[in-house]
Amino acid sequence: MCGIVGYVGPSVDETALDVVMEGLARLEYRGYDSAGVALIDGDGIAIRKRSGKLANLRSEIGAHPLHPSTTAIGHTRWATHGGPTDNNAHPHVGGRDRKLALIHNGIIENFHRLKTSLVDLGHTFLSETDTEVAAHLVATAYESTGDLTEAMRAAVAQLEGAFTLLAIHADQPGVVVGARRNSPLVVGLGEGANYLGSDVAAFIGHTREAMELGQDEIVTITPDSVSVIRFDGTPTDGKRYHVDWDAAAAEKGGYSSFMAKEIDEQPHAIGDTLLGRTDDAGRLVLDELRISEESLRQVDKIVIVACGTAWYSGLTAKYAIEHWTRIPCEVELAHEFRYRDPVVNQRTLVISVSQSGETMDTLMAVKHARELGALTISVCNTHGATIPRESDAVLYTHAGPEIAVASTKAFVAQITACYLLGLYLAQVRGAATSETVASIMAELGAIPPKVQTVLDRMDRVREIARFMADSRAVLFLGRHVGYPIALEGALKLKEIAYIHAEGFAAGELKHGPIALIEPGQPVFVVVPGPDTPHDLHSKVVSNIQEIRARGARTLVIAEDGDEAVVPFADEIIRVPAAPTLLMPLITIVPLQVFALELATAKGLDVDQPRNLAKSVTVE
Ligand code: G6P
Repeated sequence: MCGIVGYVGPSVDETALDVVMEGLARLEYRGYDSAGVALIDGDGIAIRKRSGKLANLRSEIGAHPLHPSTTAIGHTRWATHGGPTDNNAHPHVGGRDRKLALIHNGIIENFHRLKTSLVDLGHTFLSETDTEVAAHLVATAYESTGDLTEAMRAAVAQLEGAFTLLAIHADQPGVVVGARRNSPLVVGLGEGANYLGSDVAAFIGHTREAMELGQDEIVTITPDSVSVIRFDGTPTDGKRYHVDWDAAAAEKGGYSSFMAKEIDEQPHAIGDTLLGRTDDAGRLVLDELRISEESLRQVDKIVIVACGTAWYSGLTAKYAIEHWTRIPCEVELAHEFRYRDPVVNQRTLVISVSQSGETMDTLMAVKHARELGALTISVCNTHGATIPRESDAVLYTHAGPEIAVASTKAFVAQITACYLLGLYLAQVRGAATSETVASIMAELGAIPPKVQTVLDRMDRVREIARFMADSRAVLFLGRHVGYPIALEGALKLKEIAYIHAEGFAAGELKHGPIALIEPGQPVFVVVPGPDTPHDLHSKVVSNIQEIRARGARTLVIAEDGDEAVVPFADEIIRVPAAPTLLMPLITIVPLQVFALELATAKGLDVDQPRNLAKSVTVE
């Protein structure tokens, strides 16, 4: 949600603008309501900004070129305060002399009060944003301090809410100052040049050396220095790390969309998340967890908190976690968990699941859980993000950068990581023997080639999607672990194809949803394998008959060799067999491909669906 880039380089040339524009292109998935850049040139601050996608900003710069510079900032916006207009686009300028430019990600909660006082002091505002308040505050503080870092420090002391701010001042060329509270900001360490970004994608084309910043810290970059202080002014050090993927991983690599590429990368996302998790004796080792086995043995309740697709990964993992550990496991939307009165204490393990590690609702839930004394583990795909930093421990998924707004490979990696956590808990607590753990790990290890098999068979699913491009509503049914997959399949279609889609528990059908069935209504059914306990397979086959009898068009996802579904399926999408609890890693794939193909057939931008942002850093 809002992408931020900052750059300082060694000499005055075209580079600053190019670097920032390249960074914005890589961060555009964070928001695409408007884009803008500011740089310091001989005449002071120069700004270009435009509502709409980055392409509009490119045209604007083409029509009104900028002078060469060493120092630049850039922003791509997901609108919160004020509509997606040119005026509300960042950067915003501050000060009576208009020598300061500032960009922002987050929400300044007390902006209205601050704005009133600034207006009383004679400041004029050109936008409806909360950001412009920060621009005026930093600029005013600069007038008395003459130093951008100190001015930023004075300004953030007055702000409430969540923010990442970057500022440049015409009187201090070669300096970019950033501040962060509850919003993301990382430093890219170059040679004779340094970078700031909402995430490492902003500068991955230039350096893979990065530095994490803590909460409530201010960073000042020049071409050859990076210094960090806390909001209280005490010096501190950021944590340096090497980014383990390169620019190619954040490019489409010949695919028509990032989503298409990321769907295809799923065998690797699962395989890489499983990699190196066992010792020579076959025991599961989760090195990065760093929570004592003793603490894990005390756990008597698990709560998974997450949003969106990550929440569905939690709903999926619950089945395996409870089965393997015998610990009660609840799965809750982070924003609901945070604002009710959950029963959580020192013996509760709260697992947060987040691809970005920056989702504000999830972050707030984690903080709340810690205040209540819970043990917190973050399942996250982004190194050094805020949620893992705010948790007792982290288990990283290794899906690689996910750029498309609709999550796919992160979803399967999240399920895999949650399974690892569940198995590890079972091992530590003696709920599963080492033979059981080893055999489940072997079954998990066999999943990536099966996912590949599904991917190789998707031609018919694509054809079906194209035929269905004008559908008005699509329903999804599943049971047991197929239920969260039905929910996620429906979400994918809503997100990128803008089609009304709902997922239901197949057992719930006759309690209401069956009323929606009319002749021709397409219904996907995720069928459990014939070996699923409690004869769930035949129960779902009966559900298929019930809806077909009422005219539904049934699109059935069934295991190879499952003949029982044949008489009742209008279409059968075959997937390789796997143990029941692992099937979601396989059955989700056709539903992702279906949504992608249908949205593409409708001519939609699948990577940047309307109104959405990949990383939602406001509540
Ligand atoms: C947004 C995105 C979803 C994502 C959700 C949670 O709503 O559009 O694709 O699943 O946030 O994101 P997280 O980064 O916490 O997994």
